[in-house]
Amino acid sequence: MTDNAANSRTVAPTQHTGRVAAEAARRRTFAVISHPDAGKSTLTEALVLHARAIAEAGAVHGKAGRRATVSDWMEMEKARGISITSTALQFPYRSAAGRDCVINLLDTPGHADFSEDTYRVLTAVDAAVMLIDAGKGLEPQTLKLFQVCRHRRIPIITVINKWDRPGRHALELTDEISERIGLRPTPLTWPVGIAGDFHGVLDRRSGQFIRFTRTAGGATAAPEEHLGADDAHAAAGADWDTAVEESELLSADGADHHLQAFLDCAATPVLFTSAALNFGVNQLLDVLTELAPSPSGTLDADGVRRDVDAPFSAFVFKVQAGMNTAHRDRIAYARVYSGTFQRGEVLTHARTGKPFVTKYAQSVFGQQRATLDTAWPGDVIGLANAAVLRPGDTLYCEVPVSYPPIPSFSPEHFSVARNTDPGKHKQFRRGIEQLDQEGVVQVLRSDRRGDQAPVLAAVGPMQFEVAAHRMATEFGAPISLESLPYQVARIVEPADAAFVDKQPMAEVLTRTDGVPLALFSNSWRLQGFQRDHPEVVLGSLVAADGESAHPVGAARAGRV
Ligand code: G4P
Repeated sequence: MTDNAANSRTVAPTQHTGRVAAEAARRRTFAVISHPDAGKSTLTEALVLHARAIAEAGAVHGKAGRRATVSDWMEMEKARGISITSTALQFPYRSAAGRDCVINLLDTPGHADFSEDTYRVLTAVDAAVMLIDAGKGLEPQTLKLFQVCRHRRIPIITVINKWDRPGRHALELTDEISERIGLRPTPLTWPVGIAGDFHGVLDRRSGQFIRFTRTAGGATAAPEEHLGADDAHAAAGADWDTAVEESELLSADGADHHLQAFLDCAATPVLFTSAALNFGVNQLLDVLTELAPSPSGTLDADGVRRDVDAPFSAFVFKVQAGMNTAHRDRIAYARVYSGTFQRGEVLTHARTGKPFVTKYAQSVFGQQRATLDTAWPGDVIGLANAAVLRPGDTLYCEVPVSYPPIPSFSPEHFSVARNTDPGKHKQFRRGIEQLDQEGVVQVLRSDRRGDQAPVLAAVGPMQFEVAAHRMATEFGAPISLESLPYQVARIVEPADAAFVDKQPMAEVLTRTDGVPLALFSNSWRLQGFQRDHPEVVLGSLVAADGESAHPVGAARAGRV
């Protein structure tokens, strides 16, 4: 959403202009995108550990398995070893060059079934770290999430992880990045020692050898030494010479860092790490603070630019409930785009125009919460028990603003939800309504199916598991789910809805926002219908890689 493009219309600055701009300049708000198992949770812990925000890394490998990490909390997540819910972590960091920053790290679910959730989080960041497993290279979910970043013009820093394990050649991996995704890799560090025999990295800008030392279990930050070329040769021998040679090859190939190319999403700085051993983590923090963009103004829904020092505004990118059995409440996460947030101030909720009281603002750090009194552009505010807030909402102060809404993804899985306990009718309705508002699943209805049997629609089937789990544990209304034989959804005009509904292997249901969706059993059926009935125009929804939707109106105008 952040856009550096100059716009002639801008909103006037607020008071404290200098302070707001200075605080915004210190912020680095980013997310890590990766395929599951590439090491996102391990890297998150390592980053936090290196910034001295926690005393010991959570990824301790013991007999009892992995300890709870700072970013995972739901029972289901622990059981499956995946991250479903998103957390925001904030910590201060002072770079090697002495720059004081505040890092906001937004956690994204790695599993493809939750890509809609990840997309929402990516609306709130200024940069992304693309984490790649050195043994596997670019994997499907990484590619999908990369497409979302490209679509949203989010600059990407690439981290090649697990270099302590045997894997592919570094040059092969950087070639894959340029060939498959068209980003020019510009390595900032280059590994000394092949994958599996990792001594340290060549810092390609300073020419120094950064040598790492292992610590027991990787539980504490790895000590590092910086050696000049002669000492490096003495210390690492042929491995150092090879790294220098390969780095020269990269330079000859034009693969040196270029800040503007990175900010323009044409190039990606590359770093090599072992998150499990805490190797290369300081370098990543330094690159984030030196190179990643700070918040710099945002275009609103009308294309008007709101600078960071304009009056307060924030965008709700996620609503989350039932995160912790000790806190059965619901938190809306809002990213600050402009101005200063002061707890207790009364804001305006753009969608309803109603006042919104911010007494219950919190910062959330893994499972811990603290009252949040002040926040600046780039920060994330957790607003507890804000039943009115939904993903895509804007909050503002003084000068009205609305940021562009978050589009809904095209669901590919559909199940009828039924209340299995007749005494829990009210809880059933309330639970379904809340899951819909939070965007856990989309809820579709039709007169034919009735209110007792709403259809849940999802991008991936694990969303149903989350919905069923929360209905039973949080709302006390266990449900049964009956899978429906549809795979494709299209927007249909109300005038055509009854006709499409009569087709074999098709059905029309209405989303909560009033948009009728035509469901087809598969894309072959859909194509057959479109061939037989070209007069019925169907609009597409956002695909799972974040490609834009084409509303019916655009289709009619011949733009699809
Ligand atoms: P994710 O959040 O991206 O899904 O990945 P996560 O951090 O959970 O890491 C997935 C696995 O990869 C974990 O092992 C983790 O220890 C391992 N891992 C992460 N970074 C590195 C690294 O730099 N080097 C090596 N060698 N391994 C790494 P696991 O098999 O799930 O658990 P465990 O049995 O090792 O505890």
